[in-house]
Amino acid sequence: PDRRRGDGVRAGAAHREDGRAPRTRSMAALRARREEVRDRILTGAADAVQRQRALGKRTARERLELLLDEDSFVEIDMFRRGRAEAAGRGGELPHTDGVVAGSGTIDGRRVFVYAQDFTILGGSLGTAHAEKIHKVMDMALAAGAPLIGLNDSGGARIQEGASALHGYGGIFRRHVQASGVIPQISVVMGPCAGGAAYSPALTDFTFMVRGTAQMYLTGPDVVEAVSGERVSHAELGGADVHGRLSGVASVVCDDEEGCLEEVRYLVSMLPSNNLDTAPRTPPCGAERDERPRLAEIVPADPGRPYDMRLVVAELVDDGEFFEVHEEWAPNVVCALARIDGEVVGVVGNQPMALAGVLDIPAAEKAARFVRFCDAFNIPLVTLVDVPGFLPGTGQEHAGAIRHGAKLLYAYCEATVPRVQVVVRKAYGGAYIVMDSRSVGSDLSLAWPTNEIAVMGAEGAVNVVHRRRLAAAAEPERLRAELTAEYAERFMHPYYAAERGLVDEVIDPALTRAAVARGLAMMRDKRVPGPRRKHGNVPL
Ligand code: HXC
Repeated sequence: PDRRRGDGVRAGAAHREDGRAPRTRSMAALRARREEVRDRILTGAADAVQRQRALGKRTARERLELLLDEDSFVEIDMFRRGRAEAAGRGGELPHTDGVVAGSGTIDGRRVFVYAQDFTILGGSLGTAHAEKIHKVMDMALAAGAPLIGLNDSGGARIQEGASALHGYGGIFRRHVQASGVIPQISVVMGPCAGGAAYSPALTDFTFMVRGTAQMYLTGPDVVEAVSGERVSHAELGGADVHGRLSGVASVVCDDEEGCLEEVRYLVSMLPSNNLDTAPRTPPCGAERDERPRLAEIVPADPGRPYDMRLVVAELVDDGEFFEVHEEWAPNVVCALARIDGEVVGVVGNQPMALAGVLDIPAAEKAARFVRFCDAFNIPLVTLVDVPGFLPGTGQEHAGAIRHGAKLLYAYCEATVPRVQVVVRKAYGGAYIVMDSRSVGSDLSLAWPTNEIAVMGAEGAVNVVHRRRLAAAAEPERLRAELTAEYAERFMHPYYAAERGLVDEVIDPALTRAAVARGLAMMRDKRVPGPRRKHGNVPL
């Protein structure tokens, strides 16, 4: 007798009159089978689990326990297994086929999840594995709840050939169908190689764990074979590479536990879908808040740097915010936070990095963030202190025009409530792009120190008065005079307000209050869009 099938079989006892096994016996068998799959006695995975732990990695189920509310996980397809012929060992493939899938809650709100299990066939994606992910993605979309994928996989299961590639295609297509409908989050907690990396790339946020997560299209061996370049896994596609250089990772975390906690925090600020609004917390009196420290943080001299994150902390509830791409394109800050209990997306130039200029990565980073917020009904607050676009052949040749247009496009099409605050300087095209009224901001506020102009006074004088300066007996004196005159005429803080380009010039200490009031004012904003299939965003 099969000992694993429980007491009833061994006792050889009690068949019901209808000839079917008694319910207690089949229940015991089911329980035993579930335990087997969970503990994987049959899959011989003990070594693999140990290896996983030695790397500081948890198992798929342990990760889901950390991610989800206690006892909330409902698993589907636990007994699913891949085709025997794919096993290539004459045996059966293990249950789950290397991915644990289902649904649970985070702070009581529904989410759908899948966690690849590296201890089974290296978490590689075979047909059954892929179909399980497809199923859970379809359920998430139908239920209108966020999808979270925990990636830890050797990629397409080599033994299943093109069928595995077909499985990936189905994942990619579903990501795109769900894009802008439900929030999608990828957490990379191990290898994520080859085309598999396009799954995180298609989602809204990608988390990576330092030390264990890797993403690349072709691994170090292929790189060496093709180009002779020798590079380690971490140098090629580790968390720091993608957090700092490529911008592939939105968030980099030191360990798995902290990472999953960050994912929970992010989810707490997201609506479940595009027809929903983000969860509000009770208003906290922001409309009457005074923040005198704001004026101290921002030096009046437009050339002196400061940390825009300190400004953000003063403006948002409890000084708390969730920053994306913290180390990539640090010259622009993008963060989710709450103002008076309402979730907002904050975009701010960062004078501490590259003097806060907009360059290609900054434009791409902010554009994607703005589009995410817009898709999910999250109002935008834009803090402007920008000297312009980064000049130079490097930028121009790399397509700064094309990439900068992404940010312009993102703001122009955004229909959520939008508040712009000109904290200090705002020059030229960068002023327009940073949610000026002309591109559709609902409310533009400016501090009395604002400098909104086509360009800095000295640059303007050099262009406009080139001939006069060339002919002058004392060009430097004339230049100084003309510069002062230009600044007085065109760059005084009320120039834009007098023309309705700025709605209000405010006391910096009252910025939080003014933004909170502006958001409340525009909360029910509705913008009917033109009928079209979709716009043609410059990609
Ligand atoms: C089948 C795989 C596998 C794969 C790993 N395994 N990757 N089995 N298909 N793709 C198995 C291993 O054989 C091993 O099985 C177990 O998983 C653990 O793998 P190890 O190599 O022992 O682990 P480690 O040393 O940590 O190395 C991890 C790794 C390496 C770097 C991911 O396994 C690796 O390079 N795998 C192949 C990666 C790859 O080229 N994948 C295809 C990419 S192309 P045993 O039985 O020994 O424990 C792709 C295309 C997608 O994904 C296209 C979408 C459009």
